[in-house]
Amino acid sequence: MGLQFRSLSILVLLICFLCWPRVGSPLSNSETKPARALDTTLQEYAYRAFFHPRTGIPFDGLVPPYLTGIEISAMRLRSGSLFHRGVETFKEFKIPIGVREQPYVERLVLVYQNLGNWSTTYYPLPGYTYLAPILGLLAYNGSDLSATNLPELEFWASDDAIAIKFGQIRSKPEGSGSHPKCVWFDLHGQVNFTDLVSDNQCLTYEQGHFSIVVESPPPSPPATPEVSASPEETASSSKLDNMPRVCAIVGIAGGGIILVVLFALLILWAWRYKKRKRIQELERAANSGEALRMTRVGSMRVPYAMATRTMPDLEIDFTA
Ligand SMILES: *[C@@H]1O[C@H](CO)[C@@H](O)[C@H](O)[C@H]1NC(C)=O
Ligand SMILES: *[C@@H]1O[C@H](CO)[C@@H](O)[C@H](O)[C@H]1NC(C)=O
Ligand SMILES: *[C@@H]1O[C@H](CO)[C@@H](O)[C@H](O)[C@H]1NC(C)=O
Repeated sequence: MGLQFRSLSILVLLICFLCWPRVGSPLSNSETKPARALDTTLQEYAYRAFFHPRTGIPFDGLVPPYLTGIEISAMRLRSGSLFHRGVETFKEFKIPIGVREQPYVERLVLVYQNLGNWSTTYYPLPGYTYLAPILGLLAYNGSDLSATNLPELEFWASDDAIAIKFGQIRSKPEGSGSHPKCVWFDLHGQVNFTDLVSDNQCLTYEQGHFSIVVESPPPSPPATPEVSASPEETASSSKLDNMPRVCAIVGIAGGGIILVVLFALLILWAWRYKKRKRIQELERAANSGEALRMTRVGSMRVPYAMATRTMPDLEIDFTA
């Protein structure tokens, strides 16, 4: 019995061990994943805008219906022309001369994103309120315009900075004493804050996603239009948290079921073991009783033996 118990408990421990990493792991890099997946989708849809590709002209793309509210545009450029001439205007961006990319490509495509009302969904920033939509500027290899899943090129301004002139920015929520700041998300999800260079203008030396934010007023429901930002924020964070939570629930439920089954098996096994033990005992007792009676009462052997054999069955039914 001891040996079987030990192997059972080893089995239980093994199952717990196998379940654990699956319950815990999805928590790790879920922060930047949705935004990076969005970049991949928007690259694909922006490239579709090139019907008759001409260099240096912005082509507005269409997003899939489930992303309505996001604007995209794409511009194809020769690498040399970008470096020597820059781009006077590409939506809100002004790209100076001296911009380089790595690895070198002959032609590149700049993809512009305006995340509109999806800004807080993909770039939640607790403690801050967005005064402008998130704008993205990313660079890709422009040799093959049907390519999907392209990695971004490294892309930086080596001389003057790239200027981002946001249009009309929202007024800051009542109760927020801080000054607006430029926010920059790089492709790894790193956030940096810099000062504005004018009322609605930010500078950057690298690609990524940009906006203007202000610190949110201390928690007391503000009565300004910025209220709309908070439900989006909570919705997005719960969306991000959902994955690990679902995994944990599934893991716990699965583990619970396994434990219940194992426990039931254990009870069944113990009951059978007890039953077998008891039968053996009773048989042994019956056999010796039979033998005694046989010697004692010669002709009455058969009925006595039958009576003792039915007894154990009755007892087992009661104890089980
Ligand atoms: C953004 O607005 C569009 C309609 O203009 C809507 O379909 C979409 O659901 C909105 N997105 C969010 C995250 O609210
Ligand atoms: C750019 O794409 C072209 C065509 O797919 C490919 O031949 C070239 O190697 C790519 N360049 C880089 C740096 O990935
Ligand atoms: C961004 O911020 C981090 C710290 O938060 C800092 O180490 C890094 O140098 C900053 N990068 C730039 C380009 O300002």
